[in-house]
Amino acid sequence: MMGMRLPIIFLMGIYLFSLTQGSGYKRVCYYTNWSQYRTDDSIKYFPANINASLCTHIIYAFANISDGGLKPYEWNDVLTKPNVGMYAKVNNLKANNPDLKVLLAVGGWKMGTAPFIAVSSTREKREKFITRTAQFLRQHDFDGLDYDWEFPDADSKSKFTDLLKETNENFESEAAAAGKKKLILSAAVATGKWAVEQGYQVEEVSRNVDFINLMAYDFHELGPAQGKRLMQNAALFSGEEDNDVMATHNVDYAIKMWIKKGAQREKLVLGLGAYGRNFKTLNGNTTPGAQALDYGPAGRYTGEPRMYPYYEICENLKDPAWEEQWDDERKVPYAFNTQENLWVGYDNPRSIREKVYLLKTNTTALIHQ
Ligand SMILES: *[C@@H]1O[C@H](CO)[C@@H](O)[C@H](O)[C@H]1NC(C)=O
Ligand SMILES: *[C@@H]1O[C@H](CO)[C@@H](O)[C@H](O)[C@H]1NC(C)=O
Ligand SMILES: *[C@@H]1O[C@H](CO)[C@@H](O)[C@H](O)[C@H]1NC(C)=O
Ligand SMILES: *[C@@H]1O[C@H](CO)[C@@H](O)[C@H](O)[C@H]1NC(C)=O
Repeated sequence: MMGMRLPIIFLMGIYLFSLTQGSGYKRVCYYTNWSQYRTDDSIKYFPANINASLCTHIIYAFANISDGGLKPYEWNDVLTKPNVGMYAKVNNLKANNPDLKVLLAVGGWKMGTAPFIAVSSTREKREKFITRTAQFLRQHDFDGLDYDWEFPDADSKSKFTDLLKETNENFESEAAAAGKKKLILSAAVATGKWAVEQGYQVEEVSRNVDFINLMAYDFHELGPAQGKRLMQNAALFSGEEDNDVMATHNVDYAIKMWIKKGAQREKLVLGLGAYGRNFKTLNGNTTPGAQALDYGPAGRYTGEPRMYPYYEICENLKDPAWEEQWDDERKVPYAFNTQENLWVGYDNPRSIREKVYLLKTNTTALIHQ
């Protein structure tokens, strides 16, 4: 399987915009527990650095699953008073934006699927897990939960549906019994064709959550048949010459696929990544879609292989060895360094505007469906 394998774990911060019109769009921001560990003090990122007025929702990523319930991952997620842990720091941003909702995400790429499979295999296990989860969320003042199961497969597909359905029901009865607002339920889901077909009962997933976070990035990886190509991380459209699998590796295709398979349009929230996927070029060819020599090196601040965060790309572009180009077919930029044979595909303000414009006018999601 290709694509879609390294989602939120590597993101610097994602902003998601829902297709909902009318009362305003959702602007969902992920805060990651590892951005506090970036190597340079000037770019370490803490809850205090979040401008809470830019987000309608903040999702804290991630919590672990242990002993049939949620557990903090980091030593400083939860601290004993008078110290203030990270969960509390993010929740305290509501002081700057009283309408802000803060959700806790559970899962992620590093946690993997085994803990989810363990707590969802039987009705009893799900019931125990969900009850504990609701208690944990209330105890730490969260407004809801984001399931980041990466990814359900053919065997766990129906368990994922059961987990969502029963969580939703539990959240309803819990709220009624406690006389509180219902906890919000969202799910972050794959956008690769293969992963979606194999892992989701799309209609049921949609019906049982408040919103769906489409992880519409990491389209850079192809299967063995196509080899490594200079693929954009999150192309809006496919290129003229993209065929087969390559033509499915874009945001437009992913949105249409989710809608066609039965997702409620107003629940879809489009993921936007503030990072790029890099490659080593072959014979100096920098054309998007061209054969690549290999994936690229790790970024200098994150140490994560094959990717550069957006702030590092901006820094690189100040160096005359780097040149930026606009990919007009795919509506995203790319940049290359011909001295070092490096190439990176990413998003910048222009491509983000293109994507948000598409959501606002429904161009693809509606008309070309
Ligand atoms: C943050 O959460 C992830 C789970 O996704 C965990 O593996 C990791 O150890 C945590 N901390 C850091 C510094 O990555
Ligand atoms: C937060 O964002 C708003 C909206 O863009 C802006 O007006 C405000 O100045 C920002 N606040 C800070 C502290 O940067
Ligand atoms: C996460 O939970 C698993 C058990 O499911 C445990 O083995 C692991 O140590 C936990 N990770 C952290 C960082 O607490
Ligand atoms: C966008 O889609 C919604 C839901 O189908 C529809 O009500 C609305 O009219 C569309 N907007 C535009 C500009 O096409």
